[in-house]
Amino acid sequence: MLDNKRILLIVAGGIAAVKIPDLIRRLRERGASVRCIITKSGAQFVTPLTLAALSGDKVYQDLFSLTDESDMGHIRLSREADILLVAPATADIMAKMAMGQADDLATTALLATDKPVMIAPSMNVMMWTHPATQANLITLKNRAVRVIGPGVGDLACGEVGDGRMAEVPDILAALSQFFQKRQGQGALSGFHAIVTSGPTHEPIDAVRYIANRSSGKQGHAVATALAELGASVTLISGPTHEPDPDGVTVQHVETAAQMMKAAREALPAQIVVCAAAVADWKVDSTPGKKLKKGATPPSLSLSENPDILATLSQAGPQRPALVVGFAAETDNLIENAQLKRAAKNCDWIVANDVSPGSGAFGGDSNTVHLVTAAGVESWPTLRKRAVAERLAERIAAFAERNL
Ligand code: C5P
Repeated sequence: MLDNKRILLIVAGGIAAVKIPDLIRRLRERGASVRCIITKSGAQFVTPLTLAALSGDKVYQDLFSLTDESDMGHIRLSREADILLVAPATADIMAKMAMGQADDLATTALLATDKPVMIAPSMNVMMWTHPATQANLITLKNRAVRVIGPGVGDLACGEVGDGRMAEVPDILAALSQFFQKRQGQGALSGFHAIVTSGPTHEPIDAVRYIANRSSGKQGHAVATALAELGASVTLISGPTHEPDPDGVTVQHVETAAQMMKAAREALPAQIVVCAAAVADWKVDSTPGKKLKKGATPPSLSLSENPDILATLSQAGPQRPALVVGFAAETDNLIENAQLKRAAKNCDWIVANDVSPGSGAFGGDSNTVHLVTAAGVESWPTLRKRAVAERLAERIAAFAERNL
């Protein structure tokens, strides 16, 4: 997948820069060509000479170098690549990218490029979790910057936590997956998947609504993971704070009825994953204006919402080959999930423990069990992104055997 691919590798100033020589070696072993830009602080950790020797190319450092500019202007440098990879991506370079600052060759190339950008963040855990860095991360993701890692582990500063740059094999895998997806050669290429995600909002009047605490993180991650395996994905999302995933068609809806309509209209699909926390009830009559506070509170008359998962699972010519539901439970997790699988006629249920303290609602991790006709598979606690990737891999394996 990496053969003949041109990687513009931007090395910023972090201790993880010591892994970059190995990364360059592995990229070249796989047939990629690597051209490096190194920042001033990056050069404190790894020498430009090392990068030049391993990449077999000139290493670019200086925005104002007359020789570099005449040889290869910074605009051309940023365009003559298939992807720009920033590794390690420090808090500083992420902040500059988010701001659109261009005060050296690296940031100028990043601003001038029309090519996809991937970053491998690496920094101290407090720097990574700082709201400023997290806000920059969201900005970058919203601009379709692909983010790989960071992982959890020992940090050079002696602290332990999130912030360790993704390992070289993971970076190679992310790059391969990126190119695979682009060439439509992913395991799920040619398949259409519908994913529902997030909560629904059921209006009470013109300004009030009934909702739930679903963040949409898990559903959005599933949509991303399926797209990364080459599926064409329609994500039907209730109101969330999650950015629209890259490479996915997103339909924004508010109510369960709208979600149902969008799901039906998105058919046919071979794969459906219902991860949305659809409100069970809607308010029967909703005035088009705000209800006035009176002497007595109004009573709400509720009626049941359509069950999207059960509807899509109904036998018929349009029934997708694989319908996957989620079951959030606080007790008797597996037993209830098995009952739900039968009641809704879906194929698989991803059962997740949402009991207080599990951190599943709104959190980044999830402990799930995959309930299928064949039995129950219990997965360790994983990041929602990793749960999504595993699920996508299982779906790809199903597609390979059955579709
Ligand atoms: O019945 P319960 O809400 O626990 O079932 C959860 C599963 O059913 C999830 O996959 C959810 O997306 C789906 N569901 C649905 N439409 C509803 C209610 C639940 O698609 N109205």
